[in-house]
Amino acid sequence: MKRAVYPGSFDPPTNGHLDIIRRSSRLFDGLVVAVLENEGKSPLFSVPERVDLLRSVTAGVAGVEIQSFSGLLVNFLTKVDASVVIRGIRAVSDYEYELQMALMNRELSEHAETIFMIPAVEYTYVSSRLVKEVCRLGGDVSNLVPPTVLSRLHERLNPASRVR
Ligand code: PNS
Repeated sequence: MKRAVYPGSFDPPTNGHLDIIRRSSRLFDGLVVAVLENEGKSPLFSVPERVDLLRSVTAGVAGVEIQSFSGLLVNFLTKVDASVVIRGIRAVSDYEYELQMALMNRELSEHAETIFMIPAVEYTYVSSRLVKEVCRLGGDVSNLVPPTVLSRLHERLNPASRVR
């Protein structure tokens, strides 16, 4: 059984995240999508809300489970019996930070291997941060997030507006 963990903030999950989840789930027997419990980042959605959103948008993807974690990622890998970390890389600008994290995780645990996945080209510019900013300012993000996430975003950011 080869299991992998796809960790992140997922505040909120985007179509880019979903694309990486679909692609990586096909490569492993099991994929744990792991939401970091880090309230220090002042998230828009609480950890339980993000876990619920991820469960809802991945309901049709086989072999995927959603959990949250705190502390070191390498300890969580051991806990769920996984040795592979999945991270999405959109552009060269992501690489430096991702390389540091991958090497730090390897330093902390020689068994931790990071695999970088490339999303579909139409999602290479999509980030949770920009989705929130654009939605907050009234822009259309309906092509960038799953419908469940879109309606929760509007509820949270533009309570007066309606999503049809
Ligand atoms: O979606 P993000 O915010 O880029 O995800 C970052 C995440 C959750 C992968 C990273 O912050 C993390 O793994 N945090 C857990 C703490 C840890 O293990 N730090 C040391 C390794 S860099």
